[in-house]
Amino acid sequence: MRGRFITLEGGEGAGKSSNLDWLAERLRAAGKTVLITREPGGTPLAESIRHVLLAPTDEKMADDTELLLVFAARAQHLAEKIRPALERGDWVLSDRFVDATWAYQGAGRGLNRDAIARLEQLVVRDTRPDMTLLFDVPVEVGMARAGKRAALDRIEQEDSAFFERIRQCYLERAGNEPDRFRVLDASCDLEQVRTRLQPLLEEMLTWK
Ligand code: TMP
Repeated sequence: MRGRFITLEGGEGAGKSSNLDWLAERLRAAGKTVLITREPGGTPLAESIRHVLLAPTDEKMADDTELLLVFAARAQHLAEKIRPALERGDWVLSDRFVDATWAYQGAGRGLNRDAIARLEQLVVRDTRPDMTLLFDVPVEVGMARAGKRAALDRIEQEDSAFFERIRQCYLERAGNEPDRFRVLDASCDLEQVRTRLQPLLEEMLTWK
């Protein structure tokens, strides 16, 4: 039986990563085999592409280059990690997936939607998430949290209007696909977010 595919999405500083670890721990405690991964990245080759994507550079990266690199990393991740794990029947928890491309490259950079849709069809095909958790946080709150971490990467250096477009795109996608998305208000503290995650965890555990 195919495993389950859960993705976590949100803007910068939304707290995806710490909640992902918590969720994986709970699923493992319930007897599931869980693989944690992330995008861009997730395999050695895809992590190398991540480095190229996120390292600040003097040369401006063309928007199309960024889009193709994101999908190149995803193609590798799907082929080498996600699909084999799902075929084994494992649970895959990914910190970001293709919704991030619609939000960052589509809404953030304003790239052509047909191009994204075509690449999505070519690369993702029918490997779609069973559930997507959207950690929603106002842009200023997320940026203040992200700013407290290490130096900002190439994409984190964008302005607040860019991140506002990303947030709105995520919320719009969630509104259009209510069966797949669950939106969590991530502006409160971690404990409160976890309280809100608990029923979603229980919902996942009812899946046959
Ligand atoms: P992270 O900070 O959540 O690890 O994500 C890495 C960065 O990559 C983040 O700024 C969002 C960006 N990104 C895209 O621009 N497009 C994508 O498709 C993905 C998966 C991430």
